[in-house]
Amino acid sequence: MNSKPAVKKNFTVTTPLYYVNDMPHIGSAYTTIAADILGRYWRLRGEEVLTITGTDEHGLKIQRTAAERGKDPQTHCDEIARGFRSLWEKLNIRYDRFSRTTAKNHEAIVEEFFQRVWDNGDIYKGQQKGWYCVGCEEFKEERELLEGHRCPLHSNKPTEWRDEQNYFFRLSKYQNQLQTLYQEHPEFIQPESRRNEVLSFVDRGLQDFSISRVNLDWGFPVPTDGEHTLYVWFDALLGYVTALLEPEDKPTLENALKHWWPVQTHLIGKDILRFHAIYWPAMLMSAGLPLPHRVFGHGFLTKDGKKMGKSLGNTLDPFDLLDRYGADAVRYYFMKEIEFGKDGDFSETRFINVLNADLANDLGNLLNRTLGMAKKYCQAIVPEINPDEISTENPLKAVGLSLRSTVENHYSNLAYSQASEAILTLVRESNKYIDDRAPWTLYKQGEKDRVAIVLYSVLESVRLSAYLLSPIIPRISTAIYQQLGFDLDFDNSTGVNSIAPFTSHAQWGILPGGQPLRKPKPVFQRLEAICN
Ligand code: MSP
Repeated sequence: MNSKPAVKKNFTVTTPLYYVNDMPHIGSAYTTIAADILGRYWRLRGEEVLTITGTDEHGLKIQRTAAERGKDPQTHCDEIARGFRSLWEKLNIRYDRFSRTTAKNHEAIVEEFFQRVWDNGDIYKGQQKGWYCVGCEEFKEERELLEGHRCPLHSNKPTEWRDEQNYFFRLSKYQNQLQTLYQEHPEFIQPESRRNEVLSFVDRGLQDFSISRVNLDWGFPVPTDGEHTLYVWFDALLGYVTALLEPEDKPTLENALKHWWPVQTHLIGKDILRFHAIYWPAMLMSAGLPLPHRVFGHGFLTKDGKKMGKSLGNTLDPFDLLDRYGADAVRYYFMKEIEFGKDGDFSETRFINVLNADLANDLGNLLNRTLGMAKKYCQAIVPEINPDEISTENPLKAVGLSLRSTVENHYSNLAYSQASEAILTLVRESNKYIDDRAPWTLYKQGEKDRVAIVLYSVLESVRLSAYLLSPIIPRISTAIYQQLGFDLDFDNSTGVNSIAPFTSHAQWGILPGGQPLRKPKPVFQRLEAICN
């Protein structure tokens, strides 16, 4: 039996498969931005990467929403799934697979997987009694509920009492194996606070959970009993596996798992941690399959302290935010401002202030003023300097040389806020360095060599900052690279054959002397609050 995450060669990252009960909101965008950044970062490093997102389309919640809209469920799902795709396009998300649980090939994967678990003796029929939250699509324990049996995450809708025959998965059988997994692989659940939550939940003792429903049409029939419909989560988690099939593949587990499995990182919000960190590995153990490497549970975006969500209706419309401010602004704000793993509140004033301070003032102005000086003092070409000869006392070289390993570390740990902060330190140092060295005075004094060193150091620092920020703000990074004289687009050129390979471009000191610079153009327009 397998209880270890397998050693990975390929890098597969997933977002959750989003419920199509409504158009995507900013919480959906949040996980997807984070996954996109990780995928881009790995690609920058030349790794073989597969990014998966998609939609979770079965279950009672979707069945009811479609009925409320007077649509047949499939038409409803098609419409909302299109909405997700168009949001990803607007947000500049590069995904390789969009997995829909109503896709034809998915049912075959689910059936085969179910059969394996069945053959292993881990499915039995029993009586399910309890409070069901349709919003979570989950049975809740009494002690988790608020007064009146309300779910804390969907307090506007009552939970529903169920007392029915269901098929159960023998989760309890995997208690020890799961505990061993968590102990031997502390990195399996991240961050630490989430890991602790899971450990204490599992320590209290695991109970089998039901994997079928009666009185539900919208889903796959249980392969061994057509009277029952498979529980949406059993079906949904397997959407990650179906996503791995190539379009021409026959839908078999063998085909799906041959190249990209196991997933390197499942990115999820903390509300669905239990499914990913407990149920999912146990299901995989039962089917005898290798386990994912890491499950990272991030925090919630909140409004007035409450989780923003479709069910509570207190969301922020990502389409509107993107129309007003653009993809890089939205990506940067959420990743820089909210420590990944913790909850964070959104405020539009803060949004505008952060973007103006970091991207318009610190980064944008730095490039602009430096290109202006390079035009004036160096005929708009990169000064011919050997960076090895710049003293290590040079403050920019000193910060620049150590930046790569710091940022690598942060990206690998999904600490995007810290990664941005570290990069911005170099940007701020650069602005300060220009003010301190005053190249305009040096130039007047005829100190051309010193002017050349100052300008080279700053141009190189802007380049390095843009390179390292490119997973987060690819368009701004591209604009900076192009103004520095590179013909490169971070949306198209990262990967194994990249013309800006990580091994060289993530280092300080590679900007080629003599490279013609281009005309300065603001890379980020200052934002004014635009009210509509
Ligand atoms: N369909 C399931 C996932 C199945 S994965 C096999 C689901 N869908 S969801 O649409 O409700 O949520 C998807 C993701 O969005 C979850 O990771 C959830 O945490 C995240 N978010 C939803 N609201 C959020 C916030 N307000 N803030 C941050 N992320 C939140 O669960």
